[in-house]
Amino acid sequence: SLVRHYKFSVVLKNTTKLCSTKSFVTVNGQFPGPTIHAREDDTVIVRVTNHVPYNVTLHWHGIKQFRSGWYDGPAYVTQCPIQPGQSYIYNFTITDQRGTLWWHAHITWLRATVHGAIVILPKRGIPYPFPKPDDEKIIVLGEWWKSDVEAVVDEATKSGGPPNISDAHTINGHPGPVAGCIFQGYTLHVESGKTYLLRIVNAALNDELFFKIAGHKLTVVEADASYVKPFEIDTIFLSPGQTTNVLLTANQPVGKYLIAITPFMDAPIGFDNLTATATLRYKGTPPYSKTMLSTIPAVNATEVTFRFIDSLRSINTNIYPARVPLTIEHDLFFAITVGVNPCDTCLQGIRIASAINNITFVMPTTSLLEANYYNIPGVFTEDFPPRPPMVFDYTGVQPTNLQSNNGTKLYRVKFNSSIQLVLQGTAMIAPENHPFHLHGYNFFVVGQGLGNFDPEKDPLTFNLVDPVERNTIGVPNAGWAAIRFRADNPGVWFLHCHLEVHTTWGLKMAFVVDNGEGPNESLLPPPPDLPKC
Ligand code: C2O
Repeated sequence: SLVRHYKFSVVLKNTTKLCSTKSFVTVNGQFPGPTIHAREDDTVIVRVTNHVPYNVTLHWHGIKQFRSGWYDGPAYVTQCPIQPGQSYIYNFTITDQRGTLWWHAHITWLRATVHGAIVILPKRGIPYPFPKPDDEKIIVLGEWWKSDVEAVVDEATKSGGPPNISDAHTINGHPGPVAGCIFQGYTLHVESGKTYLLRIVNAALNDELFFKIAGHKLTVVEADASYVKPFEIDTIFLSPGQTTNVLLTANQPVGKYLIAITPFMDAPIGFDNLTATATLRYKGTPPYSKTMLSTIPAVNATEVTFRFIDSLRSINTNIYPARVPLTIEHDLFFAITVGVNPCDTCLQGIRIASAINNITFVMPTTSLLEANYYNIPGVFTEDFPPRPPMVFDYTGVQPTNLQSNNGTKLYRVKFNSSIQLVLQGTAMIAPENHPFHLHGYNFFVVGQGLGNFDPEKDPLTFNLVDPVERNTIGVPNAGWAAIRFRADNPGVWFLHCHLEVHTTWGLKMAFVVDNGEGPNESLLPPPPDLPKC
């Protein structure tokens, strides 16, 4: 295994998109940011220097950070931010994952423009478990605001209301052709007869996205850096935070084909309905040829989302077994609500607040991981409720308990305990799925469905053999998802909705996982350059 060194300078950069110019935060002046290339078992060392007037942290989304939680990155969870003029060296080893992941800023909304792909090849000498592609291409999906993104979230926090939606979606940084502006579109160049591995990342802040290429089928081979049983489909569906690898064979007549991404929401109210486009172009396409178009899914095409999601299964082979916990020590049920809570500084005296089991999570002013490591009192409590305070119909009638309580509450578990977590989406206010992301682990998605979770009947249908293994799960709006994982990575691990607006509203919590007794079962000591608050 190798050590891979990277230098990331966080710098401002000017750009013009959608006919409008702004200065925005980047790594090394790139958008999307630089790609990290590594193999499974390699160590990655990234020296991050902050040259912008904002506090910054970087998170390596989906990297398990086994015993190395100090490098996970969420601000005030595992570290204090890197202040302007300061630097921090992230240092982690990639264990037991291969495929595509990504990195992003993990403080306020900076990840809108501060993100990039992580390519993890299998160990040297171990082939892909699918036909070797002729080439590989990275496709990062994002969102673009003409205004300053930090100002958008500040404004929303002050008013207590929802933030402005983005002005466009982007494919590798480009919104695609916009009437009246200079053409800005990404082109995916291919040659007839060749097969390409597309590594697709949904780096959008607030939108789940469909991805489609006119005239071509895609073979899905991996999700969130875990191999899946290959299947063919025409529309990919990714929640913010999710990644997938697909094979594309250039087996259609030479020409140009439309690539489109478009948002999904269950209920089309106040949504961001912008489609971004790019072009798949065969070598030898005559100039001025027409681009072949395709239909795109409707904004509320739930059936298209399920066609994709229901097809995902772990590869579950001897080399890559699905180690699903079969017994459960912590049986958790988290109800996700969006309601209101009092706010002295807000215009209406209330603000929108999101909650898990009626707890709206409040970020501390020092890092939770340090507070736990050094036993600093008064930073958090350990009484995060394992179930909601009252049972209600999560999918129909509005509950009377929309009011949430603020708290920095954590849930503590012993090293190696097995956890089942049922995430129940409610149909209240937010018309979309909630993509829940767990730091520090991959989990198995043992079941999901629409309506209220039935604790008697639904577990009987759980897939404990080859469920997909992921780090981010779209919890259906007015539906549920059940995940299982073994808490074999000591530290403090964030669980949150990866729609940035919901995280801002408090839709987050964290697990504390104790050290084990064994020699390789405890969190390593903090590095000397760990930033101070
Ligand atoms: Cu991709 Cu906590 O984030």
